[in-house]
This record gives sequence, C-alpha cells and structure tokens, in this order.
Amino acid sequence: DAGKGEYDHYMLKEIHNQPTSLSNTIEGRVEDGDVVFEDLPAGTFAEIETVQFVACGTSYHAAMYGAQLLRKAGLRTEVIRASEYESAAGPVDENTLVVAVTQSGETADTLDAVRTATDRGARSLAVTNVVGSTISREADDAIYIRAGPEVGVAATKTYSSQAVTLTLLTQRIAADVPEATPAADREAMLAELQHLPEYVEQVLESTRAETLAEETLDNDSYFFIGNGLGHSVALEGALKFKEITYEHAEGFASGQLKHGPLALVTEASPIFAVVTGDGDEKTKTNAIEAQSRGAPIVAVGPEEHALVDVADENLSVPATHPVWAGLLANVQLQLVSYHAAELLERPIDKPRNLAKSVTVE
Ligand code: G6P
Repeated sequence: DAGKGEYDHYMLKEIHNQPTSLSNTIEGRVEDGDVVFEDLPAGTFAEIETVQFVACGTSYHAAMYGAQLLRKAGLRTEVIRASEYESAAGPVDENTLVVAVTQSGETADTLDAVRTATDRGARSLAVTNVVGSTISREADDAIYIRAGPEVGVAATKTYSSQAVTLTLLTQRIAADVPEATPAADREAMLAELQHLPEYVEQVLESTRAETLAEETLDNDSYFFIGNGLGHSVALEGALKFKEITYEHAEGFASGQLKHGPLALVTEASPIFAVVTGDGDEKTKTNAIEAQSRGAPIVAVGPEEHALVDVADENLSVPATHPVWAGLLANVQLQLVSYHAAELLERPIDKPRNLAKSVTVE
C-alpha cells in the first residue's frame, strides 16, 4: 500500500509523523509568549465560570490532560465521558463552556453530549481534526488540531496534537477568565513546546521499545500507572495496548493500585510507570509496593526521574517541562504497543471489533 510509504503499518507511519504533525499543531499559536487562536480573540472566554470536557476513547484521555491543567489554573472543571453526559454532568448555564474533544468530529456519543449541553443552555467549543465535520458545524466555535489524516484505528498522532492544543487552550481560557491564574511557569512551558517536535524525533531515533516489547510479552496482564498528568497517559497507554495486542491491560491512578488492583499483581503482570517530573512520589511508592509482589517495573519518563533507582527497566525521554514529558512518555508507550502487536501478528491498523469512528450510540 503506497500510502504507508516505508512503513509496514499506518500506525507506525503515524507515530513517526508526530514531529511534523506537532509542528503543524503548534505553528502560529504562540506569539510573544501569548497563546493565539485566530478564531478565539482575547475576551472570548471572559464570561466563562465552568468548563466541561466531553469525549470518548483516546480523546477522553486528551481531555483529562486539558481538564487537569485548567483545574490547576483555578477553574471549575469537569471531564465527562460523552456516553455518560446525560446523567453524569453537573448543572450548566450560559457561563458554562462545553469543550467537545473528537478527532473525527463524528462520534455519536460526543455529538449527543454537546446537543444535550446546548439544550441545557451551555456554550460549546469543538476541538477536532476534521474541517467541516459535524461537530465543527454544530458547536458555537471550533479549533483544529491540524494532525493531518489518521488511518490507523488506534489513535496516535491525533492524541498528541489534541493534548498540545488543549494545553494551549487552557492557557488561552485562563488568560480571559478573571478568577483564573495562568500557569506560573507558562513562559518556560511555552518555550519548551517549541522543542517538542525535536524531542519526539529523539525518542523515535533512540527508543528501545521493540526490545522491551520482546522481553515483556508473554505475561498475564499489563498495568499502567501514573499520577497527575501521568494518570491520563497511563490510561492511554493501557487503552492502546489492549486495542491492538488483545492482551489484558489496565491503567490506574498510581495511588489506586493498592485499593483493589494489587490483588491482580504477580510476577506475570509488568507495570509501566509513567513519570513526568510532577507528582511522581506516589507512583514511586506504589511501584515499589507492586515490585515487592514480584511485578517487573518499567519506568517511562525523563532520565533522572524519581523511579530511576527502583525500576527494572527504563524507557527514557528527553528532559523537559512536566507538561510535555507525559506526551513524550506516551510516544514510547505507543511504540511498545505497536511492537508488541507486531510480535503477536495482530492486524494492527484494523483491530477486531473496533472502528475508527463510532457513529452509533
Ligand atoms: C473510537 C476509536 C477510538 C477513538 C474514539 C473517539 O472508539 O476506536 O480510537 O478514540 O472512537 O473518536 P473521536 O473521533 O471522537 O476522537
């Protein structure tokens, strides 16, 4: 298939496209230390008091990323699985912004959540990859993640572009809302963002993910843990792994491991611990707990992290701001999943029972 170029699968091509797709996502969106979205001029969010993110699947994990940063800025923020919106969402009014995160812009659950929120009086903003998609037409405003077309059913480059777009959006919203405080280290964070594409390139060039996948396969279960921003990355790592390998994988907040999942931990349940440089202590304590039950620990994050002396294996990424470190860890985990699925000879681009976009509720 010519479309795959030098790669065996679209998924691998799309993972390797991330330095380019991220450059496109970022282009023109940071000017003189400020975040700029052409279609969202300063003051757009001045009246907003609450933000609700709605999304499904991988997009939900990107939404968690954005929600966490907005909460840090001091805004009331919810993140709701779109399929559960009807019953799970708190009250809304005209000061509520519903941010619909959907790569395709066609996911029925997400469209339905936005329609429900709009009927209840909320304002809506779509964050999507597809210009002209249903969500972009129906929402009050739309911004685009500019990841380019994604063919593999397992989302990869669209996740990283969503997370970057949402991180930028949180700073744009925080700048408008009087009660919110943009991140204190915003300048450093935005300066590091310019290097993110080259850091991804470095991960792609130096990764040991294939070897690690070979060494790690042939186990009962695969667990992924992380704290704070690392939590959403752990959930995404587990989702990707189960989607394309068909192996049992679960993601947890690090501190939750001891509240039940630990019963499943054995020497045949490797644990991937996502470290970002922010809030890793809980991940360390819980990883040690699991390790004492025999589970091998693979730490994924910047070198010199909190788990470096604990982990049995390390998948390192370049040192950077914690907000971007999680995304680099995610690239390593994408590659682990890909290589594990390849070793198991799975139909990587079209996993059984899954669709790229689910247009039924
Ligand atoms: C399906 C896909 C997932 C995707 C989810 C949401 O379940 O298999 O990969 O994350 O839909 O898709 P969306 O287009 O709304 O981001």
